[in-house]
Amino acid sequence: MPAFTPTVHALAPTPGPKLIIHGGAGSSLTGPGAKDAIRKSLHHILDTLYARLAGGMSALEVVIQGCQLLEDDPQFNAGTGAVLQSDGQIRLSAALMDGPAQRFSGVINAQRLKNPIQLAQHLQSQPDRILSETGSQALTRALGLPLYDPLTPQRLQEWVEEQLHGQADGRPALTNLVTATDQHYGTIGVVALDAAGRLAAGTSTGGKGGEYVGRVSDSAMPAGTYANTDAAISCTGIGEDIVDECLAARLVIRVTDGFSLPAAFEKSFAEAAGRGRDLGAIGIDRRGAIAWGRTTEVILAAYHNGEGLGDSLEG
Ligand code: GLY
Repeated sequence: MPAFTPTVHALAPTPGPKLIIHGGAGSSLTGPGAKDAIRKSLHHILDTLYARLAGGMSALEVVIQGCQLLEDDPQFNAGTGAVLQSDGQIRLSAALMDGPAQRFSGVINAQRLKNPIQLAQHLQSQPDRILSETGSQALTRALGLPLYDPLTPQRLQEWVEEQLHGQADGRPALTNLVTATDQHYGTIGVVALDAAGRLAAGTSTGGKGGEYVGRVSDSAMPAGTYANTDAAISCTGIGEDIVDECLAARLVIRVTDGFSLPAAFEKSFAEAAGRGRDLGAIGIDRRGAIAWGRTTEVILAAYHNGEGLGDSLEG
C-alpha cells in the first residue's frame, strides 16, 4: 500500500479563458471557520482575477497579479504571513513561467520585501533569470522596492511554540534540525489560460518552516513551477518530494508528449503516492482542461472555468 493516497480531479476542456489558484496543501483544516475563511479568500481573489482575464489581460499578467494578491493574504505561507526558518528569519522564494516563451524566472530566499513575485516578473526580461539571496536583495534595492517585514504575530507565535515544545514530527527544538509541521507546507500558486490561448504559471512560498538556512525551495525551480504552450503547472507540498518527482515539468512534458491533462495527473500522482511523496499540484492545458491533484489530505484550490467558480474544499 502506498503511504499516501493519490486524488485527482479534472474538468473537461471548454473554450475561453481559464484560471486556477491554490493556497497550499496539507492536513485537513481545523479550527472554527477555517474552511470558510480560506474559501472566502480564494473565491474573492478568483473573482477579481477572472474579471481581468475575461477582460483581455494576458495570462502572464494575471498570474503576476494573482500571486501578489495571495502573497498579501496573511492566511497563506507566502509574502505576508510566511513561516519562519530555523534561525527565526523569513526568506521568500517565487517563480514565474511564461508558457509561449517557455521562459522561467525566479528568486530564492529573498528577504525584507512584500512581493517576491515582482522580482520574478522583472527577471523575465533579464539575461540572468534566477537569483538567490544576495542577488535578490541587490535587485530589491535596484528596483526601489520598499523594505518590508512580512512577519505576522501568528507566525511568530507558532515559531516560538515550536522552539519551546519541539516540532510536530517529534524532532527536538532549538537544534536547527527541525522540519515542517503540517500547517507549514503551504505555498501559493496561480495558473492561467488567456483569451489568446497563452498559458502561464506562478508560485510563491515562505518554505517549509524551520528549515536550515540556505535550504532551496522547489517553488523557484522547474520542479515546482513550469509551463509551455501545451500546459502550465504550479505545485505545493514538501519541496524535497516535489523536486524528487520533478512534478511540474513532469506533468507538462507528459501533456506535450500526448497525455491528456487528467491522464498526466493520474499517472504522475499514482507514481508520487507509490513513492510516499507529500505534494499537490494545479494545472491547465491549451484546450482549456483544468486539473488538480494531491497525495496530501487537502489541497486549497479554487478555479473559474468561464461558467462559474468551484473549489477543492469539500463541504
Ligand atoms: N513547496 C514549498 C517548499 O517546500 O518550499
